[in-house]
Amino acid sequence: MTTTLTEKKTTSAPDRAIEAAPPSRSSLTRTRVLVGFDLGTNTSCVLAGPAGSKDITVSKIIPTLVGYAREGLVDGIIEGNAKILYGEDAQNHRLQLRVVAPLENGIIAHRDAAADFVRRVRAVADPTGNAEVRAVIGVPANAEDSAREDIRACATGVFDRVLLIPEPFLAALGFRDDARLGQAGYVDPVKNSLFIDIGGGTTDVCLVQGYFPTPDDQISFAYAGDKVDQFIEDELQRIYPNNGLSRTTIRQLKEEHSYVGGSRKPIDVKVLIGGKGHTLELGDVIGRACNELLDRVYPALTTLIPRASSDSVAQLLQNIVITGGGSRIKGIDTVLQQRLTADGFESPKVRLAGEDYKRFVAVGALKAARAAREDQWQHLLA
Ligand SMILES: Nc1ncnc2c1ncn2[C@@H]1O[C@H](COP(=O)(O)OP(=O)(O)OP(=O)(O)O)[C@@H](O)[C@H]1O
Ligand SMILES: [Mg+2]
Repeated sequence: MTTTLTEKKTTSAPDRAIEAAPPSRSSLTRTRVLVGFDLGTNTSCVLAGPAGSKDITVSKIIPTLVGYAREGLVDGIIEGNAKILYGEDAQNHRLQLRVVAPLENGIIAHRDAAADFVRRVRAVADPTGNAEVRAVIGVPANAEDSAREDIRACATGVFDRVLLIPEPFLAALGFRDDARLGQAGYVDPVKNSLFIDIGGGTTDVCLVQGYFPTPDDQISFAYAGDKVDQFIEDELQRIYPNNGLSRTTIRQLKEEHSYVGGSRKPIDVKVLIGGKGHTLELGDVIGRACNELLDRVYPALTTLIPRASSDSVAQLLQNIVITGGGSRIKGIDTVLQQRLTADGFESPKVRLAGEDYKRFVAVGALKAARAAREDQWQHLLA
């Protein structure tokens, strides 16, 4: 089944279909590569394949980082004396580089680094460098026009055409099991679902009801994984002053031990502080940090659910999906479901998107690229 991309009239102007220009002579002879691109605050995902086929020839998850070689670096320290490294390579050479995270709170904060990152993504998607590359790029559900403009500016001269689509819609499209469409009992998430995407920079809660979500269908706020890390760091600093734990270590500890709900037995973690071993009790702090996030997510749910029409709300309650890195917090689905039940919502069912959560937006973006009409693509004029 093909996906039809539909927009409600209220969707902001810059992403409406614009008139297609005649294809240039060179685009008639170049092969065309379609790209699904999730540009995340912490992690990006790129899927690509040739137009006119269902093949996926590139599937990569890349930490959204760009590292610039420091002045005076000794020859040979970085392979090939590269001046710019990306993703894991940038992470691994942190000490020798000035590492920039191009996005903050879900949007581009450092344009030059973002442009370098987008160029890298194109090289990954089309190693030949010769193809005509068209990319569907996810944007936060309530991205301002300026945030969309920043993405377009970074993509100009890199991709031949782009289409920006709200991330929760793409997540639903990626999560949809195309093989089960039309089967009795299968509720299509694109048709009727509530997506909760807890990322690094933002949490997006969004009704997905068959068209691109409008501002009324979504609540997005800049409280997500990075703020949880900040909470843990501040609390640990208070309890164990000068503990010297880096943000990276705190994040790893959080990811290993995260949970919501009632407090668990103590989690004693041995860490090296100034080279000496210390045991810290982290269970309480991590639990409070994750519950604080949950307390911000829940009201967004209870605000959006009543906005669904009374015809669709019963089915919607069966189709609440949590995705993004925050979906890995232990117990988050159970606790949200219990709260909704306790508040009187009718038989809610909260599910986790699952292990593959990092890919759903890009999978949806590639499906959208394959379904897009010619007049929906936007030309990027350098
Ligand atoms: N097991 C886990 N427990 C708690 N948090 C986790 C876990 N695994 C990943 N995370 C957190 O999820 C966040 C990253 O999620 P994700 O990859 O969805 O973000 P993103 O798409 O880059 O960000 P955004 O959507 O805000 O642009 C990080 O804060 C990370 O620490
Ligand atoms: Mg994301």
